Amino acid sequence: MLLRSRIRHEPLPSEITPRRLYQNRRTVLQAAAAGLAYWSMAGSAHAQSSASRATVPAAGGKLQTRPSTLSTMEKPTSYKDVTTYNNFYEFGTEKDDPVTYSKTLRPRPWTVSVEGAVARPRVFDIDELLKLAPLEERIYRMRCVEGWSMVIPWVGYPLAELMRRVEPTGNAKYVEFVTLADRGQMPGIRSSVLAWPYIEGLRIDEAANPLTLLTMGLYGEALPNQNGAPVRIVVPWKYGFKSGKSLVKIRFTEQQPMTSWRRAAPHEYGFYSNVNPDVAHPRWSQATERRIGEDGFLQRKRKTLPFNGYAEQVASLYAGMDLVKNY
Ligand code: MTE
Repeated sequence: MLLRSRIRHEPLPSEITPRRLYQNRRTVLQAAAAGLAYWSMAGSAHAQSSASRATVPAAGGKLQTRPSTLSTMEKPTSYKDVTTYNNFYEFGTEKDDPVTYSKTLRPRPWTVSVEGAVARPRVFDIDELLKLAPLEERIYRMRCVEGWSMVIPWVGYPLAELMRRVEPTGNAKYVEFVTLADRGQMPGIRSSVLAWPYIEGLRIDEAANPLTLLTMGLYGEALPNQNGAPVRIVVPWKYGFKSGKSLVKIRFTEQQPMTSWRRAAPHEYGFYSNVNPDVAHPRWSQATERRIGEDGFLQRKRKTLPFNGYAEQVASLYAGMDLVKNY
């Protein structure tokens, strides 16, 4: 994984956060000001009823979402940076390769097979997945293992919504995420930089955590190809590589899945990979990060936060665990 510096530029019209986003953010702020800061819990009945009005878009179209109190109030990274500075090795290893070479990816028709240790295994069509649960806008801090970060307004719903429908059995201890590996659509898989398909995994309680988002959009629109169209996982308290793109299979397993990055470099990339400023990567520190879009000659680095700032929601998942050993 390489680091590259970016050229400072003036914002383009496409980089300015859409008004709708600010409206959503204002709604959340107003709710908080009115003493409804925990509206997501207390007001879930209200949220459920308005969410049932969510519409299903045509491919690549607008998605109707509701805001979430799990969103950060930090300023989102520009649409341009979110969609042109990417890691998606199936399209090449340079940051601008995914936007350049992913036009060959066909996000429709698309199915995701949900299988393994579940009472109701099922193949979901992407349009079924879009309708399965109310779509939320979740503005998450994202931290890449390479030392940069972004704030991305994702669109999706908790993976737990899907899990509820397939009913994991008592043997389901882990979840494996298998992504597309198609030579015809993905020029990068001719390279042996990773073992394909790209595979990631979570422990079942991590998968069921409300922050874990089955993601179908960003900035209010269906996911662009380079960001993992048509469906990906987003796990904001872990390094970005845990968030597999362009999912085709979700498998519930008894054994911990072997993931692509662990297979490639087990001493560098652990199964857990929780964002942790106190555990350095063998080749660089993880104590600070560079926020994409804030680059510049005098840019100050930001301090990286334990669990990427989501400790309140997830630290209890790791109570009693040695997070140096379980990196
Ligand atoms: N998923 C697949 N299938 N292939 C990849 O190369 N890269 C990962 C992750 N998911 C990757 C992937 C890494 S290293 C990061 S940092 C994030 O995707 C980047 O997501 P973004 O480009 O949408 O910000």
